Amino acid sequence: MEAFDDFGVGLSSSPADVGYCKYHVQLEKMMGEFLKKESCIIFNMGYGTNATTIPSLMGKGSLIISDSLNHTSIVNGVRAAGSTCKVFKHDDPIHLEQVLRKAIVEAQPRKNRPWRKILVICEGVYSMEGEISHLKEIVQVCKKYKAYVYLDEAHSIGAMGATGRGITEHAGVDTSEVDVMMGTFTKSFGGMGGYIAGSKDLIEHIRKNSSGSIYGNSMSPVICKQIIRALDLIANSEIGAKKIKALKDNSNYFRKGLTNLGLQVLGDYDSPVMPILLYNPTKIAAFSRECLKRGLAVVSVGFPATPIISSRARFCISAGHTKKSLDFALGVIDEVAGLMNLRYAENWSG
Ligand SMILES: Cc1ncc(COP(=O)(O)O)c(C=O)c1O
Repeated sequence: MEAFDDFGVGLSSSPADVGYCKYHVQLEKMMGEFLKKESCIIFNMGYGTNATTIPSLMGKGSLIISDSLNHTSIVNGVRAAGSTCKVFKHDDPIHLEQVLRKAIVEAQPRKNRPWRKILVICEGVYSMEGEISHLKEIVQVCKKYKAYVYLDEAHSIGAMGATGRGITEHAGVDTSEVDVMMGTFTKSFGGMGGYIAGSKDLIEHIRKNSSGSIYGNSMSPVICKQIIRALDLIANSEIGAKKIKALKDNSNYFRKGLTNLGLQVLGDYDSPVMPILLYNPTKIAAFSRECLKRGLAVVSVGFPATPIISSRARFCISAGHTKKSLDFALGVIDEVAGLMNLRYAENWSG
């Protein structure tokens, strides 16, 4: 309400004009400090953060190497950049090294000149797979070949790591090793929008060159204040520490529960995102309907967000879920899994 009284819901202007108030300054400062980065810039949309930042950093003569399962906002950012793009096998540092080495040897097509710069893009936790990335190994490969690292933490910031600092903390990678740290406020912070944290020079460059910063409306001051409050809780309070622990415990409890039901569960322990495979596209609507009939709303996903024969339902666990609510959900899923023959796990004995 304080932010609403101060500025209203929106500033009707881009940050480059008059859409930049004290709450934006405060949030950027807090987020930079939280990630131990020199500087930070925020955007009103997570999608737009990737879609406008990548073109502001890369262009003709540059090379982007992108994980095969990166989010659409990254894919569209890469397309808009006009750079050469190569893809490495999902979360596979060995294949990344092969792609990088070959690209460096071959250099720019037709020009025979070295690449102006190389950017490798990956995520912290993959949104449709629930997997935790091999960040440490990916960073090692990038350092060896002097490629920049761009990390999207939409699903890991505020969720992974002992203090919620994300995948770098979880994987034991110093944030100084990651050149461009991107994330969203849509998940753990209960707000909306995105951020890029990095060196002072990097952030100044983005501020002056990204279309999201120059032409897009700035983040609502009310949302800013909501995120500031959530970040303060995560970073500086016992409530935050308890929530981080509860999220991990709830996630692992629910993942084990799903696995025990004989479902094909994707991803890793400690990840708050856990998809189960339905495979057959005709089961997408049926699974959703049967769960809803029993009082459980689920998110089911199919083509084009996933390959056509690996349709799935995706559960995102929260620190606020109680054991009772998780058990209720597992009970419903168990019943529907029996009804629809979803017990696909190979080693499930029943
Ligand atoms: C990895 C990743 N990056 C970016 C985004 C876009 O963020 P937003 O939904 O905040 O626009 C998402 C959305 O889920 C995502 O999963």
